[in-house]
Amino acid sequence: MTRLLGITGSLRRASSNTGLLRALEGMAPGHVTVEIATLHGIPLFNEDDETASGKPAAVQALDAKIRAADGIVIACPEYNFSIPGVLKNGTDWLSRGGSPFRWKRVGIVGAGGGQFVGTARSQYHFRQNLQALQAITMPRPEIFVNHNEEKFDADGNLTDEETKRYLAKWLEAFLEWVEKRP
Ligand SMILES: Cc1cc2nc3c(=O)[nH]c(=O)nc-3n(C[C@H](O)[C@H](O)[C@H](O)COP(=O)(O)O)c2cc1C
Repeated sequence: MTRLLGITGSLRRASSNTGLLRALEGMAPGHVTVEIATLHGIPLFNEDDETASGKPAAVQALDAKIRAADGIVIACPEYNFSIPGVLKNGTDWLSRGGSPFRWKRVGIVGAGGGQFVGTARSQYHFRQNLQALQAITMPRPEIFVNHNEEKFDADGNLTDEETKRYLAKWLEAFLEWVEKRP
C-alpha cells in the first residue's frame, strides 16, 4: 500500500487545483490511497503566537498527515506570478520545529487561468521553498495546466480528456519516484 497525501494551495470551494488532486485520487491504482488535505483553519503566522501557544491544531494535524504519507502532492495555484499566501503561510508554520517534509518525496501540480504558463512561475518559486523544507522534489515530468476555465466544470472537477491523460502519465512517474526511490 502506498499512501499519498495531496495538499491544495487553494481554499476555494470549486478550486481547480483541488480538482486536480481529486482527479489523481480517481485514477490512482488499487494499491494507492490519496488523501486530500486543505489549509483551512491555519492562522497567519506570528512568532509571538507561536511562542505563546505553539503550533495551532490545524498545523499539527497537517504535520502528522505529512509524516504518515509515503509521498506528497502539492497543488500549487499562481497568484501574481507566485505562490498564494495561504500556501506559503501554511508551509512557514510547518517548517517550524523540524520540517515534516524532510526527506519526503514531493511532486508539484498546478492549474491556472490564462493562456500561457499554467502556474509554472508559481511552481518554480514553490520548488525553492521545498528546498528549505528539505523535501526531495520530483524534477520531471512537470504539469502546468493552463486555461483552467475550459478544463474544469463549475464544481472544479477536471473534465478535459487530454489533461487527464497527461495527469495519468504524471502520476505513473510520481509513483515510480515514490515507490522505487530511483
Ligand atoms: C489574487 C489573484 C492573482 C492571480 N494571479 C494569477 C497569475 O499570476 N497567473 C495565473 O495564471 N493566474 C492568476 N490568477 C488566476 C488563478 O490562476 C485562478 O483564479 C485559479 O482558478 C486559482 O486556482 P483555484 O482554481 O485552484 O482556486 C490569480 C487569481 C487571483 C485571485
